[in-house]
Amino acid sequence: MNIANLELQHLNHSHISMILEIDRACFGGLWTIEAYQRELDSPNSDIIGVIATPSSLSLLGIACVWSILEEAHITILAVHPQYQGQGLGQLLLWGLLQIAHERSLERATLEVRASNKAAISLYRKFGFQTAGRRKRYYQDNGEDALILWRGDLQRPHFPQQLDQWQDSIRDRLRVYHWHLIPEFG
Ligand SMILES: CC(C)(COP(=O)(O)OP(=O)(O)OC[C@H]1O[C@@H](n2cnc3c(N)ncnc32)[C@H](O)[C@@H]1OP(=O)(O)O)[C@@H](O)C(=O)NCCC(=O)NCCS
Repeated sequence: MNIANLELQHLNHSHISMILEIDRACFGGLWTIEAYQRELDSPNSDIIGVIATPSSLSLLGIACVWSILEEAHITILAVHPQYQGQGLGQLLLWGLLQIAHERSLERATLEVRASNKAAISLYRKFGFQTAGRRKRYYQDNGEDALILWRGDLQRPHFPQQLDQWQDSIRDRLRVYHWHLIPEFG
């Protein structure tokens, strides 16, 4: 049985073609190369990815968060379709919340398609709650967006909560023969 290492990393310009590949596979081309380049250069934006080693250096998922005042705005969360359902989405969301905590942000928010059951279920596991709905927000099919929020990122118990999540994510990944390299930040 082959165990591969999995690492959460801050991405940079060398990852751009793999970032675009995931964007295309998951969203059909949501952001352009210029948009991702702007994010990579912006001091208020963090783009992270899950990278598998050593087989070949490959990016399996990406996530992006903007820091605006005391809020973390999650703008992208995507796992390559071939690797969904193994815990990588949880790992990425955990990484974003870790960054938000380290940046001293108070709460996290995002918009999600009302029909996106997988993503909504994932966010709920991490304490996100529905705060509102934007009617016909998505132009392609006129679908509503749910607005989700998660507060308490600076409460004293939150680092402990992050540690507990990391342990359970590591266990989940192990079932799929992934070994999580713990360093991140
Ligand atoms: C949403 C997404 C990031 C989840 O990533 P993933 O790696 O498949 O998720 P995980 O394996 O970490 O699963 C985490 C949780 O998500 C939920 N989930 C994932 N896939 C699901 C599915 N097919 N149906 C219902 N819930 C699902 C579950 O709550 C799951 O926890 P559980 O397995 O313990 O029940 C992934 O499906 C994806 O990239 N989708 C396309 C892009 C997208 O819609 N992004 C969200 C934009 S807001």
